[in-house]
Amino acid sequence: MAVKIAPSILGADFGNLENQIKKVEECNVDLLHIDVMDGNFVPNIAFGPDQVKMLRDKTNLPFDVHMMVQDPDRLIGRFAEAGADIITVHQEATTHLHRSLNLIKSYGVKSGVVLCPATSLSTLKYVLDEVDMILLMTVNPGYGGQSFIENSLDKIRALKEMIKGYPIDIQIDGGVNLETAPKIVEAGADVLVAGSFTFKGDIQKNIDDLRRVVL
Ligand code: DX5
Ligand code: ZN
Repeated sequence: MAVKIAPSILGADFGNLENQIKKVEECNVDLLHIDVMDGNFVPNIAFGPDQVKMLRDKTNLPFDVHMMVQDPDRLIGRFAEAGADIITVHQEATTHLHRSLNLIKSYGVKSGVVLCPATSLSTLKYVLDEVDMILLMTVNPGYGGQSFIENSLDKIRALKEMIKGYPIDIQIDGGVNLETAPKIVEAGADVLVAGSFTFKGDIQKNIDDLRRVVL
């Protein structure tokens, strides 16, 4: 299966967002990654459900909503109604992960869990039946443009082993570029999020280059 590419619009030019989204759609990317930040779980603030709703009729790309939000259950319904196709919640931000994942699914939306770089894979053991995707952060969440944390490669390999037989995609977010992407894919990733890499310079060339190095 070809590796899926999910540009993160956090790296886009916000003054020109509609146009930038159209550009990545023309490059036949697979998902649009939308970073939701609450200023509490992470120090930064970005994207609420109203903004997601406004973007919904601008593109046919599936919306992959990464909730960097403390107590995500409060807002899962609003993002589902705003048009999310996949919602991922941080293990570190919810007290009842199993409940949060089932809440996402109750809206007919695909569910996923996110782990920060320091969080152990062991926390996933009893929710493997509840998730369509597992997102491993390869930087500490909150900002685009940070460097990939190298020991994440071992974590990706271990996760690949752990989910054998489950229909679960491994998504990687943070520091994806032409140098890191081949190693990430070799370790077992299925979906690459790329923010600053995608939107710096020529978008079409960047996506083509990324595809080429992970073939
Ligand atoms: C960071 C976000 C990422 C961010 C990645 O907290 O979750 O999605 O946009 O940015 P890059 O690709 O620049 O590391
Ligand atoms: Zn993200």
